[in-house]
Amino acid sequence: MGREAASALSRWFVLNDFPAKAELTAVCDLNESLLEWYRQIPTCTLLTKDYKELIADKNVDVVYVAVPHNLHEQIYLDVLRAGKDLLAEKPFGINLKAAEAIANEAKKLKRFVRCSSEFPFLPGVQRVIAEVKSNTFGKLLEIKAGFLHSSDLDPTKAINWKRQVKTCGEIGVMGDLGMHVVHVPFSLGWKPENVYAQLQKIYTERPDGKGGMAPCDTFDNAKLTTETTIDGRSVPMILEMKRMAPGETNTWYIEVLGTEGGVRYSTKEPKTLWIFKRGKEQTWIKTDLGFHGQFPTITGGIFEPGFPDCFQQMLATFVAEREGFLNGRLPCVNPEMAVLSHHLFEAALNSHNSKSVVKLN
Ligand SMILES: NC(=O)c1ccc[n+]([C@@H]2O[C@H](COP(=O)([O-])OP(=O)(O)OC[C@H]3O[C@@H](n4cnc5c(N)ncnc54)[C@H](O)[C@@H]3O)[C@@H](O)[C@H]2O)c1
Repeated sequence: MGREAASALSRWFVLNDFPAKAELTAVCDLNESLLEWYRQIPTCTLLTKDYKELIADKNVDVVYVAVPHNLHEQIYLDVLRAGKDLLAEKPFGINLKAAEAIANEAKKLKRFVRCSSEFPFLPGVQRVIAEVKSNTFGKLLEIKAGFLHSSDLDPTKAINWKRQVKTCGEIGVMGDLGMHVVHVPFSLGWKPENVYAQLQKIYTERPDGKGGMAPCDTFDNAKLTTETTIDGRSVPMILEMKRMAPGETNTWYIEVLGTEGGVRYSTKEPKTLWIFKRGKEQTWIKTDLGFHGQFPTITGGIFEPGFPDCFQQMLATFVAEREGFLNGRLPCVNPEMAVLSHHLFEAALNSHNSKSVVKLN
């Protein structure tokens, strides 16, 4: 993800009339060959294996940290204490306790902190949010959102830090994919009040890449059935995070249905927006979307956006909010939302263990 951030920053000039310039000046990674890769970036003058050297650099204002989840708390706290602002990666600490410690420190030190979640900056998702805010759906019936992967279906896929509790966290797939799923519902004010969670561990070991096998002890799939109150009525909200969803390669989706209207979007059909309308007849209208992010770019309106584009829009959003010109656009995930997501995931673990519905405060 570090290289994704470097890519987005290195083509900052595609943002039209964007009033702030962000530049990559320093990089830290333990991996020598990765550090070498960053040498191609002319603005990047500090390459180090020691993050303490990076955060001591006076030229650095903001640090984007993308490391395994067990390292989030210590590195995020060190960044804040070095007087830098932070674009954190999800899940914002390995568990609720870590997330609260980071959020509290950010508040105490008055640092600007946001957490990464880029899909809501795709044009399709921006339209979903606008449709919901248009208030034309009547009484809401149901909300479904999810983020689905499938490469773990292959039992020969080697183990990595995301598949072990000690480095990924007990929340497993929820920590890995969950922030992406809750960003839009939380931004719309849809907070889960209770949860019934179905969590699955499918393969319990994987090749260790050295000829042997290693334990694979994280949850692979999570289905959270929650309820939220909208306009005084309880609405079911189903949130799915799966590493084993047959045929799904990074599929992010959302569906919001009401008695009068609805909306559906999935990165499976990345330029297609579906809008439901109940008139004399009931219709689903399919619209081809173009290239319309929160911030205009040089790319023509008919072209198709992709992952690097929404990631850049997210960085632009971070910078715009930090500099005070977001002007009503959708913000990045803030520390309160990140902590709320951990409350949900912890309640989901409790629900799974007790096989019961768990209330959230
Ligand atoms: N926003 C997204 O779409 C998205 C996608 C994938 C991962 N992530 C998140 O990004 C973070 C990293 O995931 P990834 O997929 O990039 O992992 P990765 O394993 O590909 O990269 C992690 C990097 O951290 C480096 N590293 C480890 N310890 C370090 C230390 N002490 N100091 C400096 N560098 C260190 C490693 O050398 C490695 O290059 C995680 O929090 C993950 O959840 C976000």
